[in-house]
Amino acid sequence: MKHLSHTPQNRPSTDSFEYWWDMDGTWVEQPNIRRGGESGVKRCHLDGDTYYVKKQVGHIFRSLRHPLGCPTIVREAHRLSVCREVGVATPEIVFCATRRHDGSQQALLVTRELSGYHCVQDWFAEEPDSSEKTRLLDAIYRRLAEALARLHNKRWHHGCLYDKHVFFKRAESDPEDVNVALIDLEKCRRRLTVARASERDIRQMRRHMPALNGRHWRTFVETYTQYIHIKSSREKTWLSLTP
Ligand SMILES: Nc1ncnc2c1ncn2[C@@H]1O[C@H](COP(=O)(O)OP(=O)(O)O)[C@@H](O)[C@H]1O
Ligand SMILES: [Mg+2]
Repeated sequence: MKHLSHTPQNRPSTDSFEYWWDMDGTWVEQPNIRRGGESGVKRCHLDGDTYYVKKQVGHIFRSLRHPLGCPTIVREAHRLSVCREVGVATPEIVFCATRRHDGSQQALLVTRELSGYHCVQDWFAEEPDSSEKTRLLDAIYRRLAEALARLHNKRWHHGCLYDKHVFFKRAESDPEDVNVALIDLEKCRRRLTVARASERDIRQMRRHMPALNGRHWRTFVETYTQYIHIKSSREKTWLSLTP
């Protein structure tokens, strides 16, 4: 976690909760009311850089380890570090903390903008069809297949695999290749087996990615099956090439 430089004397420092909590910014989407609380993300600008500030009030999950509840942001911050460990790119965490305030549990997760990256959902909707777009989509799905295989082989499933949570940027060394990053790890959980992790994510991805046509699905499966550790004897119906 990196702290920012030069904070003027008259405002709280960048490693204080209230500094980020009170920062001006625009809501990316209207805050969600669920889990008995509220969660929203603001886009904020500071010293020429852009940050995404996820703010939650009483937005908790319960588990055997946390019978009284724990903010889902805490889980997300942990999963961002899991991604880094397995070699999946994610946004850099700038600040993460929780506090009790006015009788409720508040939580904050600040990440640095994935600079130079495009969100697959927006790019796919805006970019006119062309052979270049098709080639880039092939590259995106190859890299996404590798990233997901890394997560799934450790039995983690992303849990919210929509195209708005997949980002890409062109690789510097090869304009036909891309780097892929994943965001919104709040629902990322460990499953009992590699197959379970794989099936959950991939069925969800197929339902929620309009860009994933027959061609790109074949590209995805070709790469994914090279890396995923699922015994070949198991029937992998969710990876079938026929609809
Ligand atoms: N570090 C980041 N870089 C770029 N965009 C981001 C980043 N973090 C969040 N976003 C944008 O904000 C949106 C909401 O963030 P997300 O983590 O999905 O929160 P929520 O839990 O509210 O869905 C994302 O869909 C994405 O457009
Ligand atoms: Mg989201």
